[in-house]
Order: sequence, then structure tokens, then C-alpha cells
Amino acid sequence: MSAISNLKALRPASVGGDEHRRLGALLQQGLGLAPTRANLSALADECRHRAHGMGIAEPAYLDLLSSDGTSARTEWLAIAPVLTVGETFLFRDPALWDLVETRLLPGIKALTRPLWLWSAGCSTGEEAYTLAIVASRVLAPGSFTVLGTDVNSNAITAARFGVYTPWSLRGTGTTRDGLVLSGTQAVRIHDDVKKTVRFQTHNLSDASSFPPPGTLSFEYIVCRNVLIYMTQNARTDLISALTNCLSPGGILMLGHGEASGISVNGLKAEAYDAGVIYRKPLRQALAVAAPPASARTRARAGGRVAVEDPRTRKSQKPPAIGGQYRAFESIQRREGEETSRAHALLLEAASQARAGDTASAERTATAALVLNPLSPEPHVLLAALLASRDAFDDSEKALKRALFLDPASIPALWQLGALYKMMKRGPQATFIFARLLARLEGLPPDQDALPFDNLSIGELNALLRSALGETQ
Ligand SMILES: C[S@@+](CC[C@H](N)C(=O)[O-])C[C@H]1O[C@@H](n2cnc3c(N)ncnc32)[C@H](O)[C@@H]1O
Repeated sequence: MSAISNLKALRPASVGGDEHRRLGALLQQGLGLAPTRANLSALADECRHRAHGMGIAEPAYLDLLSSDGTSARTEWLAIAPVLTVGETFLFRDPALWDLVETRLLPGIKALTRPLWLWSAGCSTGEEAYTLAIVASRVLAPGSFTVLGTDVNSNAITAARFGVYTPWSLRGTGTTRDGLVLSGTQAVRIHDDVKKTVRFQTHNLSDASSFPPPGTLSFEYIVCRNVLIYMTQNARTDLISALTNCLSPGGILMLGHGEASGISVNGLKAEAYDAGVIYRKPLRQALAVAAPPASARTRARAGGRVAVEDPRTRKSQKPPAIGGQYRAFESIQRREGEETSRAHALLLEAASQARAGDTASAERTATAALVLNPLSPEPHVLLAALLASRDAFDDSEKALKRALFLDPASIPALWQLGALYKMMKRGPQATFIFARLLARLEGLPPDQDALPFDNLSIGELNALLRSALGETQ
């Protein structure tokens, strides 16, 4: 019999004892994760599922996971999405980003050109894009490249899109200049920022994958809120691997307290009000000969991926005007006028929202709603505005009204899914996103999906698939 017992007995509630220890050891070996009740249960379920899919017994599947080959590496990447926690947002911890912008990047910008900046464990990309936005304020165009990596391939797919719900901007204050707020229901990263960032799937607990393919060393590495999920041994190994990837003079930034109890060898800690950073002394450049610039450039260029062409946006289309079945022409005319006026108000509200004047936007959207209460659109816009000031319950009510008026409204379904995500009601968000995905089936991909956000059906489709963890 295999060293690892049959997992058939391992139902989520019963993960314990020997099985607990074996799965826990596997989790640490494969992803560096500290075992919790939730991830052990997810691992047990996933093993059962994957073994069944491959037509092999569960013990054989566990043997495969615990082996050291390419198949094991691939398998860990395949199951990582159900085992990891991807909570993130743009400009998370603004004081730290202020430090990066005002002190750290200006201090290292003379080290080399281009500077390589790495967001290790970037989840859906918000941290990598934040880094690119901050870098673009300090460094000349073309003088830096950002790499974003994560073990969760679904998160990397979403990162490449660079489209988020407005909730991703929570707490950003005035730091929005590098982003395009293309609408009220979605946030799109500006193409100029996207061009400076590349993403790849990468397991930080795979010792053989350092530095990530196509790179040699980095002048700045940020790895935050990743080590907190790891065992002490895995943290120690990861900090050492990241240290080895730093160029002389380069900086490592970890999350608050994530290096506690670990001696960060070879780096010098520097304390700032916003947090502690670790710098590799420049003197090490003499001890460890740096590779020639040409080799370095070759290695880096080899791993580059093609950058998407900027997408051509289409102009906004007015919503369909109802009222064609009315009996009296005068009523029809008046209703037509009110609908047009309501639509004009709605456009005005959307533009006020984009300019950040949400109070005026809310007033204008309410006026549009009074003029045309039977259209779902003002309700959806109001819901987006209410959610942006955390009035989640009122936002949900507004969306339920919109869906009462049009149960198939794409903007209403998208907003409701996004709202449930913000409210951390995961299963409901998944249910709504799946419903929306079914609603999009058969629609032309280049048709507008969200009236005020320049997001096409094709883009929304891909976004939903990645949110739902489906392969493209
Ligand atoms: C809580 S998120 C943090 C995201 C971002 N760094 C931030 O601070 O907002 C943690 C991320 O670490 C990733 N992660 C966990 N274990 C990893 C591993 N072994 N290799 C690479 N990424 C990992 C998860 O997939 C998840 O996306």
C-alpha cells in the first residue's frame, strides 16, 4: 500500500490525525502553506476530484503530488487556486506606496536600466499595477519593467485583463491618476500602465523556479501578505530565495511582521514610519560578480511576453427607448421626451461619478430615476454609487429593483455579483456571475456590455470566466 492512505475516508469534517499530518506536510512541501482546517479540507476534496478525473486511485495521486518531477509541479499549479487566499486591492497600505514613490524608487533608479520590479504573489494584479503606477511617476518611460507572479493561474488570467470592480480602489484617495476610471461599474488599468507589466504563473515554494523564467535579478521585490499563510520553514526558504534574486543595492519589501523570527541574511533592515524594508548592500557586487549586461539583457528579453495592442473603444450607445405600445401619441411623445431627458441625466451622473463627485452623481441619478422609474439603468447606477460609499444594503435593494424591471439586465447582474464580492458573500457572487455568463451566451463579443464603462461582451465574458475559475 502507498505511504499515503486512501483518502476516501477523508470527508471535510473528518480531516484529522495521520491524514491531517500527511496532507499538512504535502501542503507545506508543494505550496509552503501552513495547514488550516479550510485548506486541508479543500486539498482532500481536490485530491479526490483530480484523482477521479485522471482515472487513478487517490493514493497514487498523492504520490504524484509528493514526487519531485515536472508533473508534480504542474499538478500543484493546477490545484493551487482552491488552496490560496487572493484578497488584494489597489494601493493597499497607501503609506507604504508613498514611501516607495518618494524614497525607495528614487534611491535605486540609478542602479541600472531598465530596473526590474517584481510583485511576488500578486494575486489578480492590483499590487503589480500599483507598483507600475508609482514607478511611472518616478521613473522615465521605458526605464523599468514590472513582473507580477502568482501560483494561482486564474488570478494571473484576471491580472492580465486589468479590469476590476470599483471596490478595488477602496482607500485610494487621490492616487487614481494612473488609472482609467472608464465607467462607474468597472475600473480599467490604463493601457500605458499595462504595457509596463507582464504576468506569469509561478510557485514561490518551488526552489527550482528562482529566478522566474526569463529573468535574472530584480532591483525591487515586493512580497506582501503571502508569507502570512506559510509555515515558518517555508517563510525562511522563500525569504532566502527572494534575497538571492535581488540585485546588489536592490530592495525587498515584505508585509508587516512577515519576517518575524527569521534572520534575513545578507540584507540590511531599514526602518521607516510606514514599515521595514530590506536592502542588499551594494558592496556584494564586488564579492558576487554581476553577469555582463548583455547576458542579463538576453535572459530578461527571452522571457518577455507580447503586450496586447491598446484596444479600440467604441462610443456609448443610448439604451433602448420603451413606450412603443402606448395608445396615445401625446403620452407617447411626453414619455419619449422624459426618457431622453432621463438618459441625458444618466450620462451626466455617470460623468460626475467618473470625476469623483459622487454626491452630485447620486442626486443626478435620482433625478433620472424620477423621470424614468421603469428603466433599470438609473437603479443600477445608483446601486454602484451607493456601493462606493459602503451603503451595501441600499445598493442591494436598488439592484433588486433593477432586476425586477429587467431580470436579464447585464449591468444589474454584474453589479450584483460585484456587490456580493465586496460583501464577502462568495457563493452568492459565484451564483450571480454564473447566471450572467449564461446570459452572455451567443451575444456578439464586440457589443457593449456595460453602458457607461466601455466594456464589451467579449471582455466581460473573459472576466467572468476567470472570476469563476474556468479556463479560457
Ligand atoms: C492575500 S494575497 C496577497 C496579494 C498581494 N500581494 C497583496 O498584498 O495585496 C496572497 C497571494 O499569494 C499567493 N500565493 C500563495 N502561495 C503562493 C506560492 N507558493 N507561490 C506563489 N503565490 C502564492 C496566493 O495565490 C494569493 O494570490
